[in-house]
Amino acid sequence: MPVTHAHLQTWKQQGRAIAALTASEYAIAKIIDRAGADLILVGDSLAMVALGHRNTLPLTLDQMIHHAQAVSRGVTNALLVVDLPFLSYQVNYEQALQSAGRVLKETNAQGVKLEGGYADMVHTIGKLVQAGIPVMGHIGLTPQSVHQLGYRIQGVTPDMAEKIFLEAKALTDAGVFALLLEHIPAELAEKITKTIPVPTIGIGAGSACDGQILVTHDLLGLSDKQPPFAPKYIDLSEAIATTVDRYCQDVRHHTFPPVKPPQ
Ligand code: KIV
Ligand code: NA
Repeated sequence: MPVTHAHLQTWKQQGRAIAALTASEYAIAKIIDRAGADLILVGDSLAMVALGHRNTLPLTLDQMIHHAQAVSRGVTNALLVVDLPFLSYQVNYEQALQSAGRVLKETNAQGVKLEGGYADMVHTIGKLVQAGIPVMGHIGLTPQSVHQLGYRIQGVTPDMAEKIFLEAKALTDAGVFALLLEHIPAELAEKITKTIPVPTIGIGAGSACDGQILVTHDLLGLSDKQPPFAPKYIDLSEAIATTVDRYCQDVRHHTFPPVKPPQ
């Protein structure tokens, strides 16, 4: 049965952890979906892992929609969420509404994700939710602010932890259906998870979150740089390189294709 927003809410109450992953194209998205991920995010990290950019800033809304359409063709069960790229929503809520509206009209996404919990962003998110657009929040380390934050852990000092905690509550009041917590101390993520009624999805935020997400390229060993909190479950770079080498050798040794091809 396809995952709905109601499922996420129920699972939080039941303590049934939500397993989420990113996807950026059809073939892998289809495998992830069939293998049972609850939520698939077309994350703007695809700017780095799929397009080779140094950070997420260059990605455009048109590019994101192109990737989200490909992913959505492979997804039948998981809840599909799409990131709004840098500068497609920060200008004002009208811009955010136009961008989120395009994502929902042109892909099969069931929600969008926006970074930030400052007052203007909370206002924008409230407007999107009122317009019927499900929004996932994203606070802590927000990679679209890389030039201010770097990729360091956030919320370490008591003041900054309190700020993130208040952002979590404000976003909840604005109506987010879930909240992504990136690279913050486990105790802070636990406090937020116990306080707010909507599910928290963590990445580098400890084990107390209602769910976990990883960038699939990290999980599979396909990223240039592995974040400290993201384990490689398999080294596909190695497996692919070995396979390509075998193929190249076979071609050069004339062992592929076989002299008598299969009929
Ligand atoms: O773009 C992305 O991959 C994200 C991660 C935090 C999951 O937003
Ligand atoms: Na993202």
